[in-house]
Amino acid sequence: MKIFFTKRRVNYLTTAALLVLPLSNALGQKASTDAKMNIFVSGLMKKMTVDEKIGQLNLITSGMAITGAVTNNGVEANLKKGAIGGIFGLYGTANVKSAQDVAVKNSRLHIPLIFGLDVIHGHRTIFPIPLGMSTTWDMGIIEQSAHIAAKEATAEGLNWVFSPMVDIARDARWGRISEGSGEDPWYGGQVAAAMVKGYQGSSLTNADAVMACVKHFALYGGAEAGREYNTVDMSRIRMYQDYMPPYKAAVDAGAGSFMSSFNVVDGVPATVNKWLLTDLLRKQWGFDGFVVSDYTALNEVTNHGLGDLQTVSALALKAGLDMDMVGEGFLSTLKTSLKQGKVTIAEIDLACRRVLEAKYKLGLFANPYKSIDATREANEVLTPEHRKAARIAAEHSFVLLKNDNQILPLKKSGSRIAVVGPLADNKRDMLGTWVIAGEWQKSISVLEGIKNVAGNSGLITYAKGANITEDTAFMSRLNFFGQQMVSIDKRPANELLEEAVDNAKRSDVIVAVVGESQSMSGESSSRADISIPESQQNMLKALAKLGKPLVIVLFNGRPLTLTWENENAAAILDVWAPGTEAGNAVAEVLFGNYIPSGKLTTTFPRSVGQIPIYYNHLNTGRPYSGGPAKFKSNYLDISNDPLYPFGYGLSYTKFNYGDIKLSKTNLKGNEALTATVAVTNAGKYAGEEVVQLYISDPVASVSRAVKELKGFQKINLQVGETKNVTFNITPEQLKFYNSQLKYDWEPGEFIVQIGTNSADVKAAKVQWVK
Ligand code: BGC
Repeated sequence: MKIFFTKRRVNYLTTAALLVLPLSNALGQKASTDAKMNIFVSGLMKKMTVDEKIGQLNLITSGMAITGAVTNNGVEANLKKGAIGGIFGLYGTANVKSAQDVAVKNSRLHIPLIFGLDVIHGHRTIFPIPLGMSTTWDMGIIEQSAHIAAKEATAEGLNWVFSPMVDIARDARWGRISEGSGEDPWYGGQVAAAMVKGYQGSSLTNADAVMACVKHFALYGGAEAGREYNTVDMSRIRMYQDYMPPYKAAVDAGAGSFMSSFNVVDGVPATVNKWLLTDLLRKQWGFDGFVVSDYTALNEVTNHGLGDLQTVSALALKAGLDMDMVGEGFLSTLKTSLKQGKVTIAEIDLACRRVLEAKYKLGLFANPYKSIDATREANEVLTPEHRKAARIAAEHSFVLLKNDNQILPLKKSGSRIAVVGPLADNKRDMLGTWVIAGEWQKSISVLEGIKNVAGNSGLITYAKGANITEDTAFMSRLNFFGQQMVSIDKRPANELLEEAVDNAKRSDVIVAVVGESQSMSGESSSRADISIPESQQNMLKALAKLGKPLVIVLFNGRPLTLTWENENAAAILDVWAPGTEAGNAVAEVLFGNYIPSGKLTTTFPRSVGQIPIYYNHLNTGRPYSGGPAKFKSNYLDISNDPLYPFGYGLSYTKFNYGDIKLSKTNLKGNEALTATVAVTNAGKYAGEEVVQLYISDPVASVSRAVKELKGFQKINLQVGETKNVTFNITPEQLKFYNSQLKYDWEPGEFIVQIGTNSADVKAAKVQWVK
């Protein structure tokens, strides 16, 4: 199980080492590839008409998911005219080939299409939702998941994925918090880079590499009130410090494309925001790929109030948008704008060049059929190896939120287990949001997984106990794309409940599999109440009254409010939406074949009223430090503290931390500091721990976050084993954006903190002068 990833890590290290040695060679090679690309693209563009150039800026959707009709008349005619640059939503080698054939064989200049898809957490083999992937704190696993997704996507003819989504989110009401890596900018950057590397591999020309599309640029996760597509408004310093780092990290990792977001940035919609798409992204960060709009985001700029479609299309082109997704604003207006002098041919050329360059980098001019290979399609998707990788990723993503009296792990035999809840005997909801090509029928339910791992000993009973929800209005929204999304047991609620209670009475332990179903998070799935739906809570309350140990296996695409559950359940294992191998992974962890090691990347509030809540907040002038207080920054009716802090997650074993040992306490300039703690496994199981490094900067020219994550190490400890964990700290980790947006560090005192989560750390101070 382990060897798979260990092996990959070694491979990557070896590749990295090889890349370092001939660096000057590599740079030389890049320059010559760029020169060749320039000659090729310039030559091609000389032959192109204005219409053909504008055609390259047009991205259409196939509608395949609904009709399968890609080569319908309109599309086919446009393909022949060279009026389409790419298609998304179309996959499968036969489908992709039929479209590519038209572009390559029947259009005047034979320019190949680029084929994109929302491959978000796996293509056919579905990995945990991105929020779950982030709680692994394992960049090897994350990179590997993206690599497997790329392998499967290319095996079905794709060469471009709309991922990673790197939007920082501090508001659990926002349904798309499930698609990102949580609230920390530095950690988000680590994940962004790992994903880009996993997708793009060592070269985009590889048969199993796809071009990444980083989204949603920018600040999409800052939507007011957590309401989807809502206004975002924040200071530049907050943007730079807290929201921009993951996008920048993706640029540094070599991401080939970016997607503009739906929201406004500093009052100007991202899709037409020149400061964002050109000054920041290209000039400051050096991005040299292309930018595509989000789905009809260009047309929606008219709703934002910036003018009609022709006006906003011209604005977008001038701002640095290169490709228009679905809305055909570019296609229908740019030629007129050119004639009227509202855009220049140089601006059209620049966008066209960037799209053609992407195709060149992908090797599509050399071979338009590069990833159209029916043998790979038959052999390289949903393989046992991929499923195993998905299971391992899922096991590592689970976060143990509570475990009283070591109720977990469960005994495999001799104990009567009542499995209850609407998510227990359920395949569809295992996959989570955004699974276009994922087949839920092939996923493993929790009940199946438990039987697979514990054996069908007859000691396991099952009852549904409750429907996902009994709220019909809510249910019809969840079933927007068809009544099948939430399957309902028509029996009266009390009958369902009685069956579960009867089973539970005859058991030694209750495993309640509850929480959010697939359509409760993701795009357009904001919730104002982020608790477990009432029907399921009623079931949990009835079960808790039995006085038997109650283990909650929690499915969720966001942090939920769980105060009752935290008080009344014996154990809570947060499994997010674990993907194709869900049930097997859950069972492996419940029975202790894998000891949970996941740590939260989002703060869990006690109440919606605390939102936005995040660990790296600024201090106030009147900080609250507990107890009764007036005129302090606190609530009358609730604590300031979260239910579970950032970085939190228990294990079946116990880790003890020693005090921090610093190499020095007074430092100057670029000297390096080492901070070491001894971590001991004082429990009964070998296990993994994510040791986290935070730094505080108590005095600076601007108000600074109370603490910021600056590093982590995931270590494995045998029972009784102690390891010294050392972090190297340099002034680079002390840098921040000042009020002139200059990124630098300021001398003074710093508090180094190391611990098991953001709220439970050892601390030591240093003085660091310039
Ligand atoms: C989403 C994007 C997605 C695009 C294409 C949009 O609605 O915001 O994340 O990539 O659709 O499906």
